[in-house]
Amino acid sequence: MVLTIDDKELAYLVAKLPLKTKKFEDHVKELLEILHFEKKGYESQFEDPEHRLWRIRHILDKLILHSASLESYASIFSIVEKARPDECYHLAAQSFVSYSFEDEFSTINTNINGTHFILSAIKKKAPECKFYFAASSEMFGLAKETPQNENTPFHPRSPYGISKVTGFHLTQNYKEAYGIFACNGILFNHESPRRGFEFVTRKISNEVGKIKLGLSKELRLGNLEAKRDWGLANEYVRAMWLMLQQNEPDDYVIATGETHSVREFVELAFDHLGLDWEKYVIIDDKLYRAAEVYHLCGNYSKAKKKLGWEPEVNFRDLVKIMVDADLERLQKRL
Ligand code: GDD
Repeated sequence: MVLTIDDKELAYLVAKLPLKTKKFEDHVKELLEILHFEKKGYESQFEDPEHRLWRIRHILDKLILHSASLESYASIFSIVEKARPDECYHLAAQSFVSYSFEDEFSTINTNINGTHFILSAIKKKAPECKFYFAASSEMFGLAKETPQNENTPFHPRSPYGISKVTGFHLTQNYKEAYGIFACNGILFNHESPRRGFEFVTRKISNEVGKIKLGLSKELRLGNLEAKRDWGLANEYVRAMWLMLQQNEPDDYVIATGETHSVREFVELAFDHLGLDWEKYVIIDDKLYRAAEVYHLCGNYSKAKKKLGWEPEVNFRDLVKIMVDADLERLQKRL
């Protein structure tokens, strides 16, 4: 079972991608039960599947979709009871950090309660189910050390980060108190052409493509100096799966070990299409965050040792993959 709000990682979990092991590909074909949560104010995905589920349109016939609310224990409970999953990947959340400052109550309530509801339903109705929680590098926030590993203390800087810290502890507590096979994946930023347009990498790759094609004249951004450890989502999804194939549940940092600024992403993206970024980028104070996470860099040595996982796509290639994909998509529309 995969729990998701947007279907970004879901598509990578299920699609036949050039992932390393055949075993993984075989496995994901069996992942049929998808618990898909609605974002408030969105039309039902069942009413408009063409638009709403664009990332998984090509594999819809392989999936069973259930709809539920992260805010309703009853809806989650009844689906866990019906599906009795063997593995549960809990990726569903209000995941946009900026928005969590605008609606902190909703972010905190939905993310924390949603995780708690799912864990509780698993405990009652599918106690053998292996559970994956999408924890986040945002938990490190104003990081106490660099690079960050599984023992680095948390200092979240946003309502979103706070909700993930609580989800992390809930996951550990259900493991310790009730014996649930529960793992925290502390994933650093993972990007791809399926990223939502509100996140900075996709905003840049999409806008640079539009500028190249004469469809846009400027790109408005906030803090260019923030640094992130950016990897390719496809590879990170494989790490999620590997966590649930181990003999014992554990928590893992998944990262590249490299850090780069938003400015570097911008420079490479524009440069890739032969454009001078300084002619197009406008700094907009409104896009700065109330409290910024300035610098993140992950140490994935535990994942390497225990899961045999390592990233392969570097930062420069990631930028190219995203810019090329958006340019191609935009060109097809012309
Ligand atoms: N979104 C956005 N838009 N961010 C901008 C912009 C802009 O116009 N300009 C500068 N930034 C900076 C932000 O201030 C932040 O420091 C950095 O770009 C990255 O922002 P996001 O792409 O929104 O991602 P994030 O790092 O806050 O969080 C993402 O990664 C986490 C770790 O995996 C999200 O996917 C989280 O849900 C996830 O937990």
